[in-house]
Amino acid sequence: MSYEFIVVNPAVVEYVATIQLNRPKELNALNLQLMGELKSALEELDNNDEVRAIVIHGNERAFAAGADIKQMAGKTAIDMLKIDQFSTWDSIRRTKKPLIAAVSGFALGGGCELTMLCDMIVASETAQFGQPEINIGVMPGAGGTQRLTKAVGKARAMEMVLTGNFISAEEAREAGLINKVVPVDLYLDEAIKLAQKTAEKSPIAVQMAKESVLKSFDTGLQEGLFFERKNFYMLFATEDQKEGMNAFIEKRKAIFKNK
Ligand code: HXC
Repeated sequence: MSYEFIVVNPAVVEYVATIQLNRPKELNALNLQLMGELKSALEELDNNDEVRAIVIHGNERAFAAGADIKQMAGKTAIDMLKIDQFSTWDSIRRTKKPLIAAVSGFALGGGCELTMLCDMIVASETAQFGQPEINIGVMPGAGGTQRLTKAVGKARAMEMVLTGNFISAEEAREAGLINKVVPVDLYLDEAIKLAQKTAEKSPIAVQMAKESVLKSFDTGLQEGLFFERKNFYMLFATEDQKEGMNAFIEKRKAIFKNK
């Protein structure tokens, strides 16, 4: 499939795909077409057995400066309801394979929310995270009041959401929002390395582990523990479990077959 606003590389290294958000003049503002393309590409990569982890990135200046304000400015509440852009976001959230955001420059509004839809975030020293919707008379709509609060706690989330203040990559790392901060020339490579590391594991185990961690956002502890336990038991039905444990005992590297 060919896309206008994203660039997909299904095999940047073995088992790792990249998706570049590609509206550089608009700082990768997330218009509806771009989000639709991202959804389609992720569905395609999720169904591709040669892909085991996916890195989403922008360019040095911007991961994404938010939803496209020019596209939204004239809309009514009913227009927004009918457009139902969040079904696209929900679909992205259902991606089974690990998603890693590689962030340099601005990750603002919907851009920050998109990084939080990902499972891990690697940032360059120049990255800035923010929810500045309050400056334009609205508020976050794609997780910025929920996922951000869970990640960084009430005090920081309130400050970011109520004042529009940005936080630096280093502050984001200290607060637990992101995994790693690296020099700007390394952020994409580091994200790909992290993707490669998870891509070396059993894909079924990775998928169930991702699903189980995400479940903790939606349930109480007891229900989450039952869910985790079921996924844990289920992995004993895989060849990869036998291979992984036998390889440990035989002191060799496991070769996982996604079976
Ligand atoms: C549309 C955008 C944009 C956006 C930047 N641009 N952000 N266009 N939507 N979110 C465009 C600018 O209009 C400009 O186009 C070009 O990109 C370069 O931006 P500048 O403002 O000239 O760059 P700079 O002075 O460096 O400032 C960078 C910035 C600023 C601080 C990131 O652009 C900014 O504040 N952007 C908006 C950030 C924001 O409010 N995001 C939240 C959006 S609401 P021209 O044509 O003039 O060159 C949101 C809701 C999400 O995300 C809800 C869920 C989907």
